[in-house]
Amino acid sequence: LPDIAYVNGRFCPIEQAVVSIEDRGLQFGDSVYEVMRAYAGQIFALGQHLDRFTRSSRLIHLNADDFLAELPGLLEEALRQSTYGDAILYVQLTRGAAQRSHSIPADILPTRIITVRPMEDSYAAEQAEGVSAVGLQDIRWAHCDIKSTNLLAGVLLKYEARQAGAFEAILFNERGELTEGASSNVFVVIDGVLRTPELSERILAGVTRLRLLELARQDGIPVRSGVLSREDMAGADEVFVASTSIEVIPVVRFDGKPIGSGQPGPITRRLHELYREMARRPAGD
Ligand code: PDD
Repeated sequence: LPDIAYVNGRFCPIEQAVVSIEDRGLQFGDSVYEVMRAYAGQIFALGQHLDRFTRSSRLIHLNADDFLAELPGLLEEALRQSTYGDAILYVQLTRGAAQRSHSIPADILPTRIITVRPMEDSYAAEQAEGVSAVGLQDIRWAHCDIKSTNLLAGVLLKYEARQAGAFEAILFNERGELTEGASSNVFVVIDGVLRTPELSERILAGVTRLRLLELARQDGIPVRSGVLSREDMAGADEVFVASTSIEVIPVVRFDGKPIGSGQPGPITRRLHELYREMARRPAGD
């Protein structure tokens, strides 16, 4: 079965989908995106992804109204054509193609892209056993709340983490405060309290983050958002990273030293279980 793409009004197999070499997404990273997941044919948390996509578009002065109006239908159609039940859906809206110039051209038509790929239980081993992470300086820009495809810093940070044999780079700002992972939000458990950095322009407002905080509250797990240091991380009872694609992955080693018992912790396990249950429930939205 071919993986399905949609580009500017046309569905086709992914290998046949092309955009112009003058696309500003390619030349400037002048574009925004979303990654969503479908479970058993249902797109999970679609509303929250669309809200964030709307916000990202507005913050880069990109008019997404027309695309947003048709997006739910296009996603459904792309998923249907793919025939996948469990899938990763990628949506990207770029400024469009125009002769290269930093200034935003008037009357430019945005490039609209969707892809659908199958999603098996790709992270089962990491979810079960936990992973190691390294702490790195957050060298990204000051607007990580915008989900833009300007991802070079994230790519380099992830490279550095993988070179060090770690699964994720956990990032700290210039004051030594935890921000997030290179492609995930970070949570720690200290004395039974679930803690995570509060939302700011320096982190992405993760949909998974939001859902996990709701689930924790409903389950009676105390939750606190606020500043976390490298020492808090190193001394935590549990640490985990979370995103749409990985769901919840325990971090059992940080900077080469074990976190807590060196095994995935009970609150991490519990939250992942609750999350999976919710995501797989029909109309889990
Ligand atoms: N990344 N922070 C960053 C920097 C991310 O790239 C992501 C997700 C998250 C988690 O967001 P959410 O829970 O909404 O997926 C946090 C996606 C999955 C990606 O780029 O592939």
